[in-house]
Amino acid sequence: MTDVITLSNTRWDQQVTTAERELAVDALERGSVLLFPQLSFRIADSEGQFLSPAVAGEGKNVSLDPANGLLSGSSVNDADLQRLQNMMKRFAASSRQLLSCVLPHYEAGLEQGRTSFRPTEIAGRRTSWRKDDTRLHVDSFPSSPTQGNRILRVFTNVSPRGQSRNWRLGESFEGVARRYLPSLTGPIWGADRVLDLLGITKRRRAAYDHYMLQLHDRMKADLAYQSQVAQRAFEFQAGSTWMVFTDLVSHAAMSGQYAFEQTYYLPVNSMLDPSRAPLRILERLLGRELA
Ligand code: SIN
Ligand code: FE
Repeated sequence: MTDVITLSNTRWDQQVTTAERELAVDALERGSVLLFPQLSFRIADSEGQFLSPAVAGEGKNVSLDPANGLLSGSSVNDADLQRLQNMMKRFAASSRQLLSCVLPHYEAGLEQGRTSFRPTEIAGRRTSWRKDDTRLHVDSFPSSPTQGNRILRVFTNVSPRGQSRNWRLGESFEGVARRYLPSLTGPIWGADRVLDLLGITKRRRAAYDHYMLQLHDRMKADLAYQSQVAQRAFEFQAGSTWMVFTDLVSHAAMSGQYAFEQTYYLPVNSMLDPSRAPLRILERLLGRELA
């Protein structure tokens, strides 16, 4: 089951030893969560007003697109928008510094994805089963195919009231894949092109994405699996930071409020051991290329 490996960094730009770097990359690629219990993201006094669910309106998060610097999902007025944007950009930059120090091996391949601010309480949110992240799942998104690239996410819990962010961590990716693959259907010929042409997907949905989406959905739809699969609960304390390959690690977020999350994409060939990528695991189990 998923391990949580701890590093003692207290600053985002703190150098770590070679041994720690080797431990970090190996642990992440094997499917551990890398936790920095003493690494907190500071919110300035002038930003305190953003610690309110109202900032995300009816939605669950505000997100910043690195391609154009635009915020979506926020309901703050124009006067406050720039400061909210700055706070999120600061988190994006901090997470990047952390990766440069801890995972220099990835530096050349990393692509920055969206930055997300999550001021909404997770517990009790009403949503469809497919979007319900309180159910164990591996990350895969219908409109954003990765074509095999990895999804590495950095989270930090900024709860001002000391509330932990409570996750469940499930079985190994290979366990998930072996369980559901035999009953999954292959992609329909030509569907990837149609979805791409209609703009439903941001790029072509590879066979890899097709299988990952099905794994995501099958896990979430299977209530017996949700309650019976081997799993552990983990509390991420306020003031802590963690990173994890969420395409590999089965996870569910049960409760908690006020977090930042930064997504990074990493080509499989930038990994220390590409054979541990979900792409390579699925290819091995299915006996064919998927991206
Ligand atoms: C998720 O990726 O499933 C949600 C994680 C979180 O917001 O803590
Ligand atoms: Fe997720």
